[in-house]
Parts: sequence; C-alpha cells; structure tokens
Amino acid sequence: MCGIVGYIGLPEKIAEHQALDVLLEGLRRLEYRGYDSAGVATVAGGTIEARKKSGKLANLIDEIEGAPLVPASLGIGHTRWATHGGPTDQNAHPHFGDDGRLAVIHNGIIENFAELKQKLSAAGHTFDSQTDTEVAAKLLGEAYQATGDLTEAMRQAVNELDGAFTLLAVHTEAPDRVVAARRNSPLVVGLGEGENFLGSDVSGFIDFTREAVELEQDQIVTITTGDVAIINFDGTPAEGKRFHINWDASAAEKGGYASFMEKEIHEQPKAVEDTLLGRTDASGKLTLDELRISPEELKRTSKIIVLACGTAAYAGTVAKYAIEHWTRIPVEVELAHEFRYRDPIIDETTLVVSISQSGETMDTLMAVRYAKEQGARTLSICNTNGSTIPRESDAVLYLHAGPEIAVASTKAFLAMITASYLLGLYLAQLRGQLFSGQISDILADLHKIPGKIQTILDGAEPIKALARGMAQTPSVLFLGRHVGFPVAMEGALKLKELAYIHAEGFAAGELKHGPIALIEEGQPVFVVVPSPRGRDSLHSKVVSNIQEVRARGAKTITVAEDGDDAVTEFSENVFFVPETQPLLMPLLTTVPLQIFACALATEKGYDVDQPRNLAKSVTVE
Ligand code: G6P
Repeated sequence: MCGIVGYIGLPEKIAEHQALDVLLEGLRRLEYRGYDSAGVATVAGGTIEARKKSGKLANLIDEIEGAPLVPASLGIGHTRWATHGGPTDQNAHPHFGDDGRLAVIHNGIIENFAELKQKLSAAGHTFDSQTDTEVAAKLLGEAYQATGDLTEAMRQAVNELDGAFTLLAVHTEAPDRVVAARRNSPLVVGLGEGENFLGSDVSGFIDFTREAVELEQDQIVTITTGDVAIINFDGTPAEGKRFHINWDASAAEKGGYASFMEKEIHEQPKAVEDTLLGRTDASGKLTLDELRISPEELKRTSKIIVLACGTAAYAGTVAKYAIEHWTRIPVEVELAHEFRYRDPIIDETTLVVSISQSGETMDTLMAVRYAKEQGARTLSICNTNGSTIPRESDAVLYLHAGPEIAVASTKAFLAMITASYLLGLYLAQLRGQLFSGQISDILADLHKIPGKIQTILDGAEPIKALARGMAQTPSVLFLGRHVGFPVAMEGALKLKELAYIHAEGFAAGELKHGPIALIEEGQPVFVVVPSPRGRDSLHSKVVSNIQEVRARGAKTITVAEDGDDAVTEFSENVFFVPETQPLLMPLLTTVPLQIFACALATEKGYDVDQPRNLAKSVTVE
C-alpha cells in the first residue's frame, strides 16, 4: 500500500531518460499499491520541484503537462493509499521539511505521529496536511539542520519513529543522493550503470534494470550515481543481498487484453503449470524452494495453522481439506489479523503456513512473527521472491506465477491452491502417509489441470453473456460445500471487489439455518456443485439445496462437472467444468466465477484492475 520510487542518474543520462520519466514509469507499474493520489519531487538547480495531485496517476500527469518540471537527474515519486488524512491534494506526497529544501515520501504508518506533531508544533513548525508523513519530513529537516548530512539525519530521525515505514528523501543541499529507510515496509534497490533506483518492489524499476538488492529490516540506504551504501539504524555498515529479477517488463504489460484482470485470468493455465514446474528431485521426490527446517522437524508436525487474508485465506481453506485428507494432520485456517489476539495454542510442533501473494501483507507478517516468537515453525507460500514474509520464514514454497498486477487476485489464487496441494503431498511423503504411487497419481492429475482451465477459458462466452445481462442485479448469493465452500466465498468476494455488488458466500448446508431467509423471487444464486463421482451424499445434498432455493423463487446458476445432468433441470444456467479429482475441483470451479465478476464489472463500466478503496499490497495493520 502506497507505491514509492526513487532515482538518481549521471547528468548525461538525462538525454536517455530524465528522472521524471523513470519516476512516472515506476509509479505507473506500482499504481496497484494505491491510487488515491500521486506526486513527484525532483532536485535541479538547487531547488526542489514538486507536483502532486489527488486521484489516479493520470491526474498527476495532466498536472505536470500543464506545469512542466525542469529536467532533473534525481527524484522521488509516490502513489498513495490514504491512511492519515483524506485523499486530497494537500495530503498527497511528497511532504516538505527544512523550509522546503527537503522532500519526503512515505509508505506505512508512523504510530507516534500525534506526539511528535505536538512537539514539533511547540517548536514552531506549522503543517500543511493531516498526514503522519509531514511529521517525519519536519523531523528529518531538524535532524538535517543539526547534522548537515542527509544519511545521518535520516538515521537520527527514524530512531524517533514508531510504526512501519519506508521513507525516501531528497534535499537541495545533497543533490548527489537519494536516501531511504525501511522498517516493516517494503523497499528494494535497483542497480544500473551510472544510475540507481529505489522501489516498493522491483516493478518500480523493471523497465530500466533487472539487477536488484534486497534490504533487511531497520536499514538505511543511500543511492548515488555510482554507489549503494547500506547501514543499520544503529549506524553499523551492512551488506544487501543481490538478486536477478527473472521476469521482464512485458510480463507486467496487458499484452492485448483490455485489463490486467482479463490477462491474469487467461494466464491461469500457465500460472498453475509454473507452480508445478520443477518440484521433484532426481529421485522423483517432491521438494520445497527453501527449507531452513529439518525434514525431521517437519515430520513431527502435530498441527498446522494456515494464516492469510482476503483471497489468500480462501486458498487456505481449500488447503485445509486437502492437507488434512492427505496427511491426517489437523489444520486450522485463520485470518491473520485475528490470530494473535486470541492467545492461540502454539508450540514447536506447530507448523504455521502463511499464504500471501505479495509477501508484504502486514497483518500476515505480524501473525507470522508472533507465531515464531511462540516457537512455531513457519512456512511461507508466496508469489513475490525475496519479499519479507518468505525471508522471515523457515521454509518457502514460491508460486512462480509471475507478477499479478490487478488488485483483486485471480491467478495467484489458483497458484496458491496448487502450492498448498504440493505442500500437503510433500508432508504426506515425509510422513509416509501416502504411497509414492498415490502421490504421483495426484501429481499427474494436477498436471492435467492447466489444459482443463484452458477449456473453460475457451468456452467462457456464455458466462460473460450472462454477466452482461445481470449488470442491474443488486445482490448475488453463492453456495458451496466441502472444497466448493471456499470457492463460493471467493466467487462472492470477486463480485464485491470488482462490481461493488452485495454478494455473500455460504456453506450450502448452512443455508437452512438462516441465509435462506434472504431468498425471494428472482434472487440469483450461484451453486458450486461437487462432483457426482465423489461422495454420493455430498452431491445429492447440494442438489437438494438447489431445490430448496428454487422452491423459494431463486434463479439458480450452477457450476458443475461435465456430464452432471442431474443439475440441469434445476438450473436456470449451468456451466460445466472438466472432470478431475474432487479435491482438485477448486482449480476449475473458481474460473467461471472470476470470469463472471470481471465481465459484470466491465459491463458496469468499472475499472476492474483498480477497484475503489482497495490496494493490492496492504502494508498497514
Ligand atoms: C488485499 C487485496 C486482496 C488480497 C489480500 C491479501 O486485501 O486487495 O486481493 O487477497 O490483500 O494479499 P496477499 O498479498 O497477502 O495475498
């Protein structure tokens, strides 16, 4: 949440690209992190030039076109998801200190800002905004006045701040550097020749370099045209970990699709395939990406707790069904933000599995840290290499699904489910719970999933047509059982997020205990039907649930397995998905629901990539 970029290049680089071009390109790619307002500051000719504007980046670009900036070779840029202070021009970043000689941008929340603001006000400072960031800017300005060194000033200032922050600063008297600090908020450095970059993540500079450096918590980095110097908050020197970015800029482009969401829905066969790729060693045994726990310790796991938020939490619920079935280890799934406030029972035989696309979700990160403190082993399922949660976990299973730009998650959801199946199979293999033949049979079925998703995508037109006809619908309900239950929840979430329609997902069995009161004439109800080839009773119970809602006037739309003719007569519309093992069905039944939500929101004229009020990477609690 909030995207930040920083840049410094040799003056001769201006002919190639000025600081502003780099900053705006970075902000364009980081806009998924927040789009309430945007702003830039550059340093040229001994002054700071800044422009900032509420609304999306396009508004800032218009503003700059109306009042161009002089060419500069260093600067900072910000795209905001509002926390302190509404999304106004005044509250947009950058904020200023040291009588306008210093500009600061910030991602995160400074928890002691009220106390600091009081002190600074008493010392004669006045504030132009309601933000916590401006407090940091004034504090940094004071520290600069005292030290005359931007890096040291940053070090002194951050030691007075509580909370989570990434701060970037430039000063007119230090036109050779951009200084940044991070605590519990993301920041990576991009390495160029005669130029260096800063970004919330690598997409902030992917157009310019694919070489990057990871920073640890509580570090300050100073970038100049030829150097990247890192120190800890206590002033001791530190080394960053260098890495190569293995996806290119085109992976983060729309590639002919109308939206990133559509593109990412269509990338799902590949996302699942890539998650499955290269998971076995020479002897055919499943492996994880990074294992900092011994297999013996993992074998002793007595309980698994899955922690996640949003879509990732629904992937976690699917994981519970599969992991419990294959390993016989009890699995609890918990929203990360609820977890540490309920005094959970954890010991060193507890395996805490976090699931996060970004690897930066603050609620999930804090829950993982809490679990570690309590002695649990931690394993991260994550899409973003080198992000904080996997770095702080004992073991990692990366999704390898490529960048997901649309704010509402689609391909990462399927990849998360796929990765949790792999984890379940891995644990079953370790504990000897499944025969190797059983594991390879399930893997073989998993490898057939990408082709089956493609079949659904190729036949998606009737789903889109139905969605287009339902643009005026005020409410949609979703029902599912067993692994179909989290799919129903995810279907409802997609519709809320993208189309701003009231939508609820229910366990079909729960219907009669209350939600059935919502059914009235014409109420659309999606039903995710389990395979008739699975447990017989489950399928027939869901068919009964369909009849119960129809009897009360509902319009039923079913997602069922190919050949499940029993549902046709009870469905206004039925969408079939290819056969697979019952536990693997979410990888197929989710897809029509995503297509439906995307098409309906598009019909309503909404921006499906950047839904209102949301941000992709929520780095505040
Ligand atoms: C935000 C996004 C959701 C996402 C959730 C968890 O709320 O809007 O789409 O599911 O964060 O994100 P993560 O990166 O941890 O998977």
